[in-house]
Amino acid sequence: MSAAIQRRLEIPEPHDAEQTELHPQLTHAHVRFIGLGKTYQGQQGPVAALQGIDLAIQRGEVFGIIGRSGAGKSSLIRTINRLEQPSSGRVLIDHVDIGEFDEDRLVALRRRIGMIFQHFNLMSAKTVWQNVELPLKVAGVPKAERAAKVRELLELVGLQAKHNAYPAQLSGGQKQRVGIARALVHDPQILLCDEATSALDPETTQSILGLLREINRRLGLTIILITHEMAVIRDICDRVVVLEHGRIVEQGPVWEVFGNPRHEVSKTLLAPLQHGLSEELQSRLQSQPHSAQAAVVLRLQFTGSGADEPDLAALFGALGGRVRLLQGGVERIQGHALGQLLLAVTGSSLGAEELRQRATQWAQQVEVLGYVV
Ligand SMILES: Nc1ncnc2c1ncn2[C@@H]1O[C@H](COP(=O)(O)OP(=O)(O)OP(=O)(O)O)[C@@H](O)[C@H]1O
Ligand SMILES: [Mg+2]
Repeated sequence: MSAAIQRRLEIPEPHDAEQTELHPQLTHAHVRFIGLGKTYQGQQGPVAALQGIDLAIQRGEVFGIIGRSGAGKSSLIRTINRLEQPSSGRVLIDHVDIGEFDEDRLVALRRRIGMIFQHFNLMSAKTVWQNVELPLKVAGVPKAERAAKVRELLELVGLQAKHNAYPAQLSGGQKQRVGIARALVHDPQILLCDEATSALDPETTQSILGLLREINRRLGLTIILITHEMAVIRDICDRVVVLEHGRIVEQGPVWEVFGNPRHEVSKTLLAPLQHGLSEELQSRLQSQPHSAQAAVVLRLQFTGSGADEPDLAALFGALGGRVRLLQGGVERIQGHALGQLLLAVTGSSLGAEELRQRATQWAQQVEVLGYVV
């Protein structure tokens, strides 16, 4: 491990002792937003892009931001390196209010914060090496030091062999690797990713996510990412916040928000991830029990930590009658089981609503989806 990487792992103590004593949960807050607001002057008058955002992002976590288009995600992330100036409230990095920074301190701040983008923003007339080297040149870093840094980073992102290639000769994933290497040249402590995998196919997305995870672990970097791909959040983030019309509507550990989304927006955004009904079952499903033999179809969703996965024998026994498993699966997110069961119950003495209530002993959410014959 290089000296630079070693240095970065020595995490400074937050110096605002008074504040952290008052709010122990904020001891490790790397980025904090306090009452943050942002209003743009649009063509049809002011646009309130962010309102009353209070949020703490912990040091070393991978933090996801989701929300519909126009919810304010990019505006929020861009206040962290002051590409956007907040209209109200404060942004604290390492407990320091960056609102008062002059130009020099802003330049230094932006070097501590790397950023990668959907369209990579590489210079097409420069090689991979030159693209990564450029910000070091601009910062006046001597040639030998630049060379050592570029070599180290190209190795980290697995592009040593491509150092002489031009962007046009690279795949999307390779271009984003260059973007990542370039974002890390000044040993930043924070990496901002705005839709960084949106232009990539699923397999390449996985390899870039793997790289980001490795960087997060090896370098102790705090990663803050925006994506419209919910699977990206599920696969890499520790915590997630959901924005709607510039406000926070839900936040928490990914396993909790994904396992049991509470807000309408979160439910809608996460719907594609929930295992849907098979088309065959969907086509047979009826809203009313048209015959006495019709089975009640229940969907059970459960979250747990492995130890408390549902006892199916007890569940089936409590429902009574004949219980058939239509569909079932368990996903693991951050060591937590997120499960779904679709059950068809026939011949029980209980009605649909009673069955639903019984089942809630075993699952966080139970719905009656309808009836099948
Ligand atoms: N420079 C600007 N001038 C005027 N309005 C803006 C400006 N930038 C953003 N907005 C508006 O602010 C709101 C939030 O925009 P923002 O780009 O932060 O959303 P987003 O969540 O990143 O959306 P997307 O998912 O489409 O990228 C939107 O209504 C947008 O139209
Ligand atoms: Mg955006």
